[in-house]
Amino acid sequence: MDLFQKCRDFTKAKEAMAAGVYPYFHALESGQDTEVRMAGHRTIMLGSNNYLGLTSDPRVKKAAVEAVETFGSGCSGSRFLNGTLVLHVRLEEALARFLHKESALTFSTGFQSNLAIISAIAGRNDVILSDAMNHASIVDACRLSFAKVLKYKHNDMADLERHLANLASGDCGILIVTDGVFSMEGEICDLPGIVRLARKYGARILVDDAHGLGVLGKTGRGTAEHFGLESEVDMIMNTFSKTLASLGGCVAASEEVIHYIKHNSRPFIFSASIPPANIAAAIESLRILEAEPWRVHRLNEIAAYMRAGFRRLGLPMHDSGNEIVPIIPIVTYDMERTLLVVKMLFDAGVYVNPVVPPAVPADYCLLRTSYTATHTDAQLDEALGVFAAVFQQLEAMGLAHRPHAEGHAHGHAHGEHGEHAAH
Ligand SMILES: Cc1ncc(COP(=O)(O)O)c(C=O)c1O
Repeated sequence: MDLFQKCRDFTKAKEAMAAGVYPYFHALESGQDTEVRMAGHRTIMLGSNNYLGLTSDPRVKKAAVEAVETFGSGCSGSRFLNGTLVLHVRLEEALARFLHKESALTFSTGFQSNLAIISAIAGRNDVILSDAMNHASIVDACRLSFAKVLKYKHNDMADLERHLANLASGDCGILIVTDGVFSMEGEICDLPGIVRLARKYGARILVDDAHGLGVLGKTGRGTAEHFGLESEVDMIMNTFSKTLASLGGCVAASEEVIHYIKHNSRPFIFSASIPPANIAAAIESLRILEAEPWRVHRLNEIAAYMRAGFRRLGLPMHDSGNEIVPIIPIVTYDMERTLLVVKMLFDAGVYVNPVVPPAVPADYCLLRTSYTATHTDAQLDEALGVFAAVFQQLEAMGLAHRPHAEGHAHGHAHGEHGEHAAH
């Protein structure tokens, strides 16, 4: 059998291309902002993780340019050896202080952060309990570690406790790992439940707060701040590619944990460090997040406004269980209809992300809409108007709502989400 036979057998994407509804790899002809240029026309961006609108902030851009002028374009090596700049140390100190932890460590991407943290901290004699809907980087990090990996049902504390009770007699370290905010559904993890169980069974907690930083908590410190549980979460992971308008990631934890990861993590030691421009952009973004908490409040306000708007239009939203997370999934049921709606919205000037199998079950596809603190009221109203027009058009085409699938709309997307989710 030719190794490349699978490439020839893979026809799904080509079929979507032939049908004119292929939704991926659209090239932006402008910066990442609330409005972008794509395919030669102005598009309202409802598919970005640029939560605080800092990718286009002149202060962040200036910091990146100055860092290139001072430190050059790259680090040419690992943090472990020649690749540590004073900028890395400065950002780690700022992150530790901001997240109320003793220490922090940066990695080259968010994905790599999970690989680096989990593969180092969970060893051969340990067990990882991972939420069934965790991000793909956590799933792959678990595969990379030598620990035993058990999945618990999504946000289901009874199932988590069942696993913990089974492990109670064993002599193993236990790590509970969860997304703080689930990236496709906009749900917040049951952190109080996890903390209670971790205490009861002597487990440690890692929260991936990629979508919590700058989004949750009065000052944007994330999921743990939202619940008032910062001192109870052992390790907080973040990426710099969303709220911090850059590229990279980090973990904040106790001094002893950071010291261990620093000297034992292969994805950390054997990979080059974050380039100067990206580090400087993250430092400046973090400074702005601290200095301008209005951005977090505005973002939460926008999330509530859009949920109310979609409700008014009668569109079926996935029930995220909160009003404030700026990830709002609209249920579009089957894949064909989903790709068609994405294309119709795009043609009418609104970009959203499709969520299709295997990330979700075949009859529970979603449009993932997401928001930025700098979206204006006018942009949001315009986007709602486009949604209204597109869904009316669908109705006229006889492709409106699918009543037989409605039962899902208030449930969960039960797919093997973390295995495949791209964002
Ligand atoms: C929950 C979660 N963890 C980790 C990552 C990986 O982060 P990055 O894209 O910055 O590598 C992402 C984003 O893709 C994410 O949504």
